[in-house]
Amino acid sequence: MTYLLGIDLSTTGAKAILIDDRGQVIASATSEYPLSTPHPLWSEQSPQDWWRGASHSIREVIANASIRPEDIKGVGLTGQMHGLVLLDAHNQVLRPAILWNDQRTASQCAEMTRVVGAKRLLEITGSPALTGFTAPKILWVRDNEPDIFARVTHVLLPKDYIRFKLSGDYAIDCAEASGTSLLDVKKRAWSMELLSLLGINPDWLPRVVEGPQVTGTIHSEAAEATGLRAGTPIVGGGGDQAAQAVGVGAITPGIIALTLGTSGVVFAPTGEPFIEPEGRLHAMAHSVPGNWHLMGVMLSAAGSLRWFRDTFSPGSSYDDLLAPASAVEPGSEGLLFLPYLTGERTPYPDPLARGAFIGLTLRHNLAAMARSVLEGVAFGLRDSMELVKGCGLGQITQVRVSGGGSRSPLWRQILADTLDCELVTVNITEGASYGAALLAGVGSGVWASVQEACDATVRVLTTTLPQPGVVERYQRIYPLYRSLYPALKPTFPLLG
Ligand code: XUL
Repeated sequence: MTYLLGIDLSTTGAKAILIDDRGQVIASATSEYPLSTPHPLWSEQSPQDWWRGASHSIREVIANASIRPEDIKGVGLTGQMHGLVLLDAHNQVLRPAILWNDQRTASQCAEMTRVVGAKRLLEITGSPALTGFTAPKILWVRDNEPDIFARVTHVLLPKDYIRFKLSGDYAIDCAEASGTSLLDVKKRAWSMELLSLLGINPDWLPRVVEGPQVTGTIHSEAAEATGLRAGTPIVGGGGDQAAQAVGVGAITPGIIALTLGTSGVVFAPTGEPFIEPEGRLHAMAHSVPGNWHLMGVMLSAAGSLRWFRDTFSPGSSYDDLLAPASAVEPGSEGLLFLPYLTGERTPYPDPLARGAFIGLTLRHNLAAMARSVLEGVAFGLRDSMELVKGCGLGQITQVRVSGGGSRSPLWRQILADTLDCELVTVNITEGASYGAALLAGVGSGVWASVQEACDATVRVLTTTLPQPGVVERYQRIYPLYRSLYPALKPTFPLLG
């Protein structure tokens, strides 16, 4: 039998899954690790913790599956995007990794915009300078930790540090590299123009490859640590969003991957590189060779519902919380929820944005408020969908929803009605790690292409259709939701 290993280095833990060559999940294992916030707005993790977690999960998944390591034909990597790992000339980690949700780099983003020019930066990288992305973090270390900066020899992203530990190679796939602010997204190669303008040494950067491309093989020390066979090939893989899209089969234009995790993501494959003129969506390379995608990221999607439950109904299950909400009329009796509980990225890149309930009356109870949270998140995701539609890239035929929030039939119905589109769930619930395993399958010859891999493994499970009448109702409420951010924006910075 042939098996494939997918490793997802997420913000909470390292997950390893094994699938067979028919796409069946055989076993999975996760090892958690901590996150530290040494200052407000900072977010860091230890790359050594990642390696301990990843090697432990790989050992465990092989043991749980009771298979022979030589039957694993390929390894695919995915993980949290945008993080910065710095190594010295002896490959030692120079400081804790600075993560995607770290907000310390506002002044470095301003510098990048000034030095490169907003228009040119967007043209090359597909996004404006964003605090979470990698390049401003490198500049932050230059400005604040010159002794460390002087010793930098290699710059890696989180999952690519694990690649280095597994095979000794410095490599990155182009989907992941799109989140650094240093890639020429159209060319799928580092931008020498940007590197020279920003004073970043190109020799520090890993080699850019395609998602299914083999970057190297497991070396003997890593085989010892993980139980894998030395010589097993590793493929490029992808950042978590691109790998997630592969894992649900969102690899062709018209099929959108919508992820309802802590954050909410609208991921729209595009056959060609297309940059949203105002940079409100990220334009990035896909893990599918020769394909790109647009992406909107909402920071508190299912995270909003978790906050609501933990605050107003602690200890309840989501099922118990949401059962009464399904009896509330669409529109929650005039109650609107703004989901900016941790600031926002799309469509408003505003770390100071705040959440709100607008329209409360004495009649509103827990059920109406819960429904209004689901509706507010759906409207926020519609914001990203509207931006995608505004790019005029053709008909959207299907939305494939995944992530914890997609387990709620009520939320799926609200989304179908708000987005006015067929919404489906698929048989794959392993998310990004599954996409990484499929990419490993393509790289090791199990499937001829990513399309073939998805066709062989991903099936639609449930379909939710928009309901006539309710669609029109949400259509009327959406402009009211849209009017709230501009009205409240001047107040947010004054709230302290
Ligand atoms: C994508 C993004 C998140 C992180 C963490 O742009 O910021 O998906 O990769 O999961």
